Amino acid sequence: MKKIAVIGSINSDFFVEMDRLPKSGETILGNSFFMALGGKGANQAVAASRLGAEVSFFGSVGNDDHGKFVKETFSQEKIDTSYLNFTDDAHTGAAFVEISNSENRIIVIPGANNFTNTVYVKEHLERILEHDIFIFQLEIPMETIEYLIPILHANNKTIIVNPAPALSIKQEILEKITYLTPNEHEYQVVLNQSGTMEEALSLYPNQLMITWGHNGVKFFDGNQIIHVPAHTVNAVDTTGAGDTFCGAFAAAIADEKGLSESIRFGNIAAALSVRKRGAQAGMPNRQEVDQIMTKELSHDRKGHIPTN
Ligand code: RIB
Repeated sequence: MKKIAVIGSINSDFFVEMDRLPKSGETILGNSFFMALGGKGANQAVAASRLGAEVSFFGSVGNDDHGKFVKETFSQEKIDTSYLNFTDDAHTGAAFVEISNSENRIIVIPGANNFTNTVYVKEHLERILEHDIFIFQLEIPMETIEYLIPILHANNKTIIVNPAPALSIKQEILEKITYLTPNEHEYQVVLNQSGTMEEALSLYPNQLMITWGHNGVKFFDGNQIIHVPAHTVNAVDTTGAGDTFCGAFAAAIADEKGLSESIRFGNIAAALSVRKRGAQAGMPNRQEVDQIMTKELSHDRKGHIPTN
């Protein structure tokens, strides 16, 4: 199997659950509070590793208890932490997640994630290039991504970018990305466009995959727009569902699955991940996803995915 490197963010997630979000100037009583490991990079690494991929993590945490917890958790998840950067100059990234009616709103304070900078990646470049498939998100400095992508492209690596939080990406970087996975709210900002989803998809055949929540994923195969439907379950907490999709998609690509099959694999993993609270708690293992894939293939080859 091909080796995956996640070059991305790590956060401690602070969750607050409430019946409704407060209005400006209002105080309300929430229902519960809990903490869990998160960050889009960390979530994608855990998702891919739990599904059997060989994953290394390149990223930064603070020299604090949260940073130690990250290293322990990654090791338990069989993620290679040899290159994890511990900095004295910032706290481990933090995210404040407000959950109401299984929907969420997130504020991220990057902290140590800003130290996943060009100095750090230059120091580890030789080790980075030992991997085959790369996953990026946009919670680390854009200059790191703009520095690495041309090098990875020149070395014929597979580059997956989950452009969240949404930021505009330069055209010369966009064209070097193998797979780009914005959601329906992000693609216009990321691609610097105001067109429809269909117009955007047709410009990036077999490269742009727009994720669309419970509607599934769309991409253009060069001839037509392909809609890969979502697998739906009752959601408890959707935090990290997009990350689970990306990690699972990368694991399937590492396993040499085709594009539609990899998207379907990602959709099933993402759906299963929303059954539990927190970004990583509900992420499935390989057996759970494979069982549903097999059922789907034997029951309905036209795209309907059984829900039990
Ligand atoms: O995508 C979910 C993640 O976004 C959370 O884990 C939080 O840390 C933010 O990065």
